[in-house]
Amino acid sequence: MSETKEDNPLAFIEGDVVSLCPTNADNIILYAGWMNNPETRKYARYEMPQTIDEVKKLFEPKKEAVKNEIFFEIWHKKEKKPVGLAGLIRIQWFTRNAHIFYLIDQKYWGQNIGTEVGKLVVDYAYKELNLHKITARMFAPNKVSLRVAEKIGFKHEITLKKEVYIDGEHVDVLEYAIFKDDWKK
Ligand SMILES: CC(C)(COP(=O)(O)OP(=O)(O)OC[C@H]1O[C@@H](n2cnc3c(N)ncnc32)[C@H](O)[C@@H]1OP(=O)(O)O)[C@@H](O)C(=O)NCCC(=O)NCCS
Repeated sequence: MSETKEDNPLAFIEGDVVSLCPTNADNIILYAGWMNNPETRKYARYEMPQTIDEVKKLFEPKKEAVKNEIFFEIWHKKEKKPVGLAGLIRIQWFTRNAHIFYLIDQKYWGQNIGTEVGKLVVDYAYKELNLHKITARMFAPNKVSLRVAEKIGFKHEITLKKEVYIDGEHVDVLEYAIFKDDWKK
């Protein structure tokens, strides 16, 4: 039986396994824990320790008149707890482009959650925000993330050679994209 919205009264978008909810100031320590986790931060590019205050600020409403980022807490419906963060950043409302990101609690990797979340965010970007192009920026050694992007439907667009320094070497950055017209199909 599928879980109901009552599992989390703040649920904003409902998926099968997870819901996307607004971020919650009460869970900042949990978020900071994910961001500081050695395996997660390597590819999410948090090269410096993230303090509770810095993470808190990241999710506070910004002063800009127009919001250019949207964050979600990923809520596991069956486990009834947050298991990650996702959203859209660098939103350009005139060109209608944005970058997608997702970060899942390492304990929940490999359960198709990243893929479900990515699909929900893209769907929201196209069906509710009327964006035109979503980009996913990933690092060549992050094979899992590349696979997730492909499963969602992203296609490789450009490679920036030896653009970023990870684990003692410069590696390529791969930019993948999905267009609204292709998503509709
Ligand atoms: C990237 C991330 C979100 C993936 O989440 P996830 O819930 O584990 O992903 P899924 O379970 O949906 O899919 C994982 C896929 O990668 C595959 N995979 C796992 N290890 C792999 C490897 N070494 N090489 C290639 N593919 C691999 C899995 O088999 C699965 O594909 P399949 O369904 O075809 O079998 C998660 O690893 C994460 O939070 N990483 C840290 C932050 C990050 O890198 N974010 C992405 C950049 S924005």
